[in-house]
Amino acid sequence: MGKWWKDVVGYQIYPSVFNDSNNDGHGDINGISDKLEYLKDLGIGLIWVGPIYRSPKVDNGYDVSDFYNIDESYGTLDDVKNMLAKAKSLGIRVIFDLVLNHTSSKHEWFIDACNNVDSKYRDYYIFKDPNDEGGRPNNWKGFFEESVWTYVPKINKYYMHIFSKEMPDLNWDNKELRQEMYKVARYWLDMGVDGFRLDAIAHLAKDKTFRDSKAYKDDLVYDPSKFSNRKELFKYLKEFKKEVLDHYDCVTIGEVGGCATTDEALKYSNYKTGYFNMVFNFDTCWENGAYGSIDKSDSEIKTNVYNLKLLFEKWYKDIDEKAWLPLYWLNHDHPRVVSQYGDIYYRKESAKMLGLTLLFMYGTPFIYQGEEIGMSNVNHKSLDMFKDVNAVNIINEYKDKYTEKEILRFLNRASRDNARSLMQWSSNQVNHGDFYLNENYKVVNVEDNLKDKDSILNFYKKIIDLRNNEYHDEAVYGKFKLIYRKNKDVFAYQKIKDKKIMVISNFRDYIVNFRDYVSENKIIMHNYKDVMVVNNKLVLRPFECYLIEII
Ligand code: NOJ
Repeated sequence: MGKWWKDVVGYQIYPSVFNDSNNDGHGDINGISDKLEYLKDLGIGLIWVGPIYRSPKVDNGYDVSDFYNIDESYGTLDDVKNMLAKAKSLGIRVIFDLVLNHTSSKHEWFIDACNNVDSKYRDYYIFKDPNDEGGRPNNWKGFFEESVWTYVPKINKYYMHIFSKEMPDLNWDNKELRQEMYKVARYWLDMGVDGFRLDAIAHLAKDKTFRDSKAYKDDLVYDPSKFSNRKELFKYLKEFKKEVLDHYDCVTIGEVGGCATTDEALKYSNYKTGYFNMVFNFDTCWENGAYGSIDKSDSEIKTNVYNLKLLFEKWYKDIDEKAWLPLYWLNHDHPRVVSQYGDIYYRKESAKMLGLTLLFMYGTPFIYQGEEIGMSNVNHKSLDMFKDVNAVNIINEYKDKYTEKEILRFLNRASRDNARSLMQWSSNQVNHGDFYLNENYKVVNVEDNLKDKDSILNFYKKIIDLRNNEYHDEAVYGKFKLIYRKNKDVFAYQKIKDKKIMVISNFRDYIVNFRDYVSENKIIMHNYKDVMVVNNKLVLRPFECYLIEII
């Protein structure tokens, strides 16, 4: 109780496409500074800024070549200092994305390791000899659809990378390397950042037997257990906490992704012996089956609302009173939520419904840039428009098995590019660079949303304000309880503290007869103009939602 990071509403900024202050076609740090008042006005108390360190940007900055400097496309260290000072003066905390699992292949350590036999940096990474037949050391497949091994002919060795080959994994067994990474963390904390989102943190330790995975039989086997949540990892985290985190008033949110159960999440973040304040999981991000479903047409994709509710409930029940959770619909690795769980034909209704459902649930909510105006998925016309390294690998993997049309359909609904289009500020926006600007920017943009009283943005402002003020205790500290649990279309819950509030959200694009109408309750927020009651039943229209105080 009583920690600032529980009380705030967070906002994720993906810097390259957020705001471009100097019209060079690339988002920058001054662009973030210029929008801090906008965020303040929205009610945001914490921003998570994606990686802005020097980088060849094979993976949009998660491939860091210099941890101490800012990539020049984003500006300078002074710009960062100004941004931090301005945020502080507005009462907004700032966390950075800290990448501890890997560097860029252009990092000087890696270059030295690949070129110099006696390099001390060789042991900063994971190099292995070829197997007896001269091939890769084992059959492990990484997160980006490739083998985790890449060969360096010059030294006749393979190096390990669980993401792209331009992102070699660091060897956390090496004590000196660990100290180097602690130094990086201290450097940014000393500069005034309020903490970190810890990228890919579940993967720092690997199965050092390097035996083939037998998870299933295939040439390459995707078996994240070989490099996720392993025992040795928790020793490193203990040391990291003791040597760095314990010395600062900072917040830490580990990315443990799709590979962690609630039990594992508790190891990372339980109040008593955990290492971080919270951990992000991905469980609630894929309940409409959009991922891994290249064979399905768009009309076959339908949100499993029942499962979605149960997942939120499971995380809450397993973690309540033991740990705290961040809460989000999407980040830069997921499709846009209005396209996924909502519907662009009901953009206003569904975006508002999703905002309301998330904001009063539990934990610290994170809004992803553009969510507050209902930004939706990209509509790429050809495969060469996809930029994300993962999408490019998927195209290569699928191109012999599927038609271009099928791959395009799949990536337009599931790829990470969906969240990486330019933030839509106004209907006059000019795209100076080579980022994608969704053609709907003429109607979906901040400027028009600000003018329209009934807009998604103004709805978000109101619900954030209600969460921050009038219903703060219920929203943040109230007990969460699903109601009408078995209903397959409606996500409804109560939050109980001094007051009793209830959220009712129809996740369908059709009318749902809900329950007996009870008139004495107070409607606090609603995304339709009137209440529909038929035969004393409350009827929910497409994506209709209510926030109600039970009197
Ligand atoms: C997780 C990040 O969110 C993602 O964008 C990135 O590709 C990987 N980690 C590797 O850093």
